[in-house]
Amino acid sequence: MADLIAEEKIDQIRQAVDIVEVISDYVQLKKQGRNYFGLCPFHGESTPSFSVSPDKQIFHCFGCGAGGNVFTFLMELDGLSFQETAIKLAAKVNIDLGINLPQSQGGKKVSKELQAMLEAHELLRKFYHHLLVNTKEGQQALEYLLNRGFTQESIDKFQIGYSLNSWDFVYKFLSKRNFSPEWMEKAGLIIKRERDGTYFDRFRDRIMFPIFDRHGNTIAFSGRSLGADEPKYLNSPETAIFNKSKILYNYHLAKPSIKKMQYAVLFEGFADVIAADRAGVENGIATMGTALTDEHISLLRQNVQTVTICYDSDKAGIEAAYRAGNHLHDAGFQIKVAIMTDGMDPDEYIQKNGQDKFRNEVIGASLTWMGFKFLYYRRGKNLQHEGDQLAYIEQIIKEISKLDKAVERDHYLRQLATEFSLSLEALMQQQRQIYFAEKRKSTGKNEPAQKPLLSFKPAEELKTKYVTAERRLIAHMLKDRDVAYKVQELLAGTTFNKDEHQAIITYLLGFYEDHLVPDASSFLTYIQDDNLRRMVVDIEMMSINDELTTQELTDYIKQVLNYQNLLKIREKEEELKEAEREKNFTKAAEVLTEINHLRKLL
Ligand code: GTP
Ligand code: MN
Repeated sequence: MADLIAEEKIDQIRQAVDIVEVISDYVQLKKQGRNYFGLCPFHGESTPSFSVSPDKQIFHCFGCGAGGNVFTFLMELDGLSFQETAIKLAAKVNIDLGINLPQSQGGKKVSKELQAMLEAHELLRKFYHHLLVNTKEGQQALEYLLNRGFTQESIDKFQIGYSLNSWDFVYKFLSKRNFSPEWMEKAGLIIKRERDGTYFDRFRDRIMFPIFDRHGNTIAFSGRSLGADEPKYLNSPETAIFNKSKILYNYHLAKPSIKKMQYAVLFEGFADVIAADRAGVENGIATMGTALTDEHISLLRQNVQTVTICYDSDKAGIEAAYRAGNHLHDAGFQIKVAIMTDGMDPDEYIQKNGQDKFRNEVIGASLTWMGFKFLYYRRGKNLQHEGDQLAYIEQIIKEISKLDKAVERDHYLRQLATEFSLSLEALMQQQRQIYFAEKRKSTGKNEPAQKPLLSFKPAEELKTKYVTAERRLIAHMLKDRDVAYKVQELLAGTTFNKDEHQAIITYLLGFYEDHLVPDASSFLTYIQDDNLRRMVVDIEMMSINDELTTQELTDYIKQVLNYQNLLKIREKEEELKEAEREKNFTKAAEVLTEINHLRKLL
């Protein structure tokens, strides 16, 4: 990139961006004391050793040593350059960088086109909503919705609208506002006629459900026919701004609730999401008529570890729930499955049985994943028949074998034993056989090794006293400019014992030359070396006393100097031996005095 971003701009971005907010898009963070904790995105782990400090605007992982500020986080996680990161963050907080973005990949042109697509969707969303809520043309559609149990409130919340029964209303509406027809076609809003190259509207006489991305931009629509017109739901095609396999309906509105409740409810259709929301289940999401993809799962993983699947309770819905559940289970999620009676979908269930029953007897009474499988394998079997019964028991034992916890295995085996009046010992024996048979099948498959991305190991650094003293001193120096100069003065020309520590203070004193107040995040940008930067973050995250007493300060300095004295004593001891060997007793006496002097200093 030709243009460099001005230093003040970088500072401006740093001040405007909140690291907790940025990292929350990638990691589920929980507040604990002053800091936030979560699972480190840089290495695989199951107990959180990743922390973020809102005060210092830095992050750090005790496990793998990753650490830095908001810039380094995005650079390392998304593989961006510093400039790219700055551009991304600047856009997030609306700071104009005043630089020319590269033309080479048509950067500017593309973003202008995307911008126009988003604007057109935004305009139409508002207009469709207005038509539904306020006009005679939308009246029939509104009545249909109200009859189906939609409320005015949910129509507003989900910005539901109505598209006119016209072939060219949208085409004219957008053309008048200078949107290019080519782009509007690419955005999926209008369609080109083969024969004469004229355009017509994609959505006509339909109830319009806007689809939002995770930031709340309208990026597509799904239009439901009012009557029996096919297709029932007409979706926007895949476009530059709409990728079905990445979008979860209602994600942007559900996110806060998902975080608060610590689980998400996954529905099959968005009509269910809206109905459930009315019933007070605000953490609902749905795919856009597709199966759950890896992309959906990684989007979810940033915010939750538990998902309640609430699909239609007909045959197709239960099969789909089984597939989605396995997919989520393989991705490490905790799963529950909510079941409704009589093959209903959530929307129908709520209309028939009411909101309270849905919350308490469906969502609240969700089955565990294993409990669901008990039910799943039972379907289509007559358990009075010996053959069906044995097949069922074997399927269940296979599932039990996959459980990691002995207590759980025991629990479900007992349940089976009781239900079919079998001996627990026999079941346990069969379960073990199945376990080893499955294990033999799967050995030979290569498990991808989970390698930490970074090699620096903070724990190894903490061994000796002087290292701790130096780290504590640096921690205080990072916090207080005066302390930094004071330490420098007390060291009177001697350096820290550990080279890296000395390098850090050299950087720090350089930083304080033109920064009068400490700023952890800003200092990190100042350090070029990755290893040093991680070390600084590691030190920043140590807990130290707010005030550094003179006693504490002199103790640390002493420990730093002691080590140097110790080194000098070792040196002198060699000299002493040498002098004694040479029978140079005057020299030996001199050296001995020096050694005694040094020993007294310790
Ligand atoms: P209602 O019939 O309005 O209650 O909707 P529903 O959510 O009960 O619909 P259904 O269970 O039939 O479908 C679930 C989801 O599948 C919908 O939200 C759509 O995403 C998708 N879907 C259903 N029918 C169609 C269709 O005709 N075309 C497309 N593209 N998607 C559909
Ligand atoms: Mn329905």
